[in-house]
Amino acid sequence: MHRSKASTEQRPRTLLICVNRRFGSDKPSCAARGSVEIADALEAGVRTRRIDIETERLRCFGQCPHGPNLRPAPGGSFFHRVAIEDVPSVLDTLEKTCGTRSETAAEKPVPPLHLLGS
Ligand code: FES
Repeated sequence: MHRSKASTEQRPRTLLICVNRRFGSDKPSCAARGSVEIADALEAGVRTRRIDIETERLRCFGQCPHGPNLRPAPGGSFFHRVAIEDVPSVLDTLEKTCGTRSETAAEKPVPPLHLLGS
């Protein structure tokens, strides 16, 4: 795995994952190199570890020879040549950069009504 230099210092909100597959072409594509499995693992890891970032699959960054490619947005640096074995390391980086989500209101236990006051 290789990382390019970040273009800004903004905190990323979305992890963009290329899952483009080219049929009938000898040009490289991220999906032909395993990006769908990588996307599945990253999405599951973000959910399980409650990392505060959304994930979005997209079709091609124009970085095809360097794939599979990921990019935190806005402004994050590319992860190039990502392998399934790199997923824990990518998740560690995202968790360090984005933090984790606190419990949502729906998940928090509701106190009994008599403890809510009047
Ligand atoms: S196919 Fe993934 S960047 Fe082009």
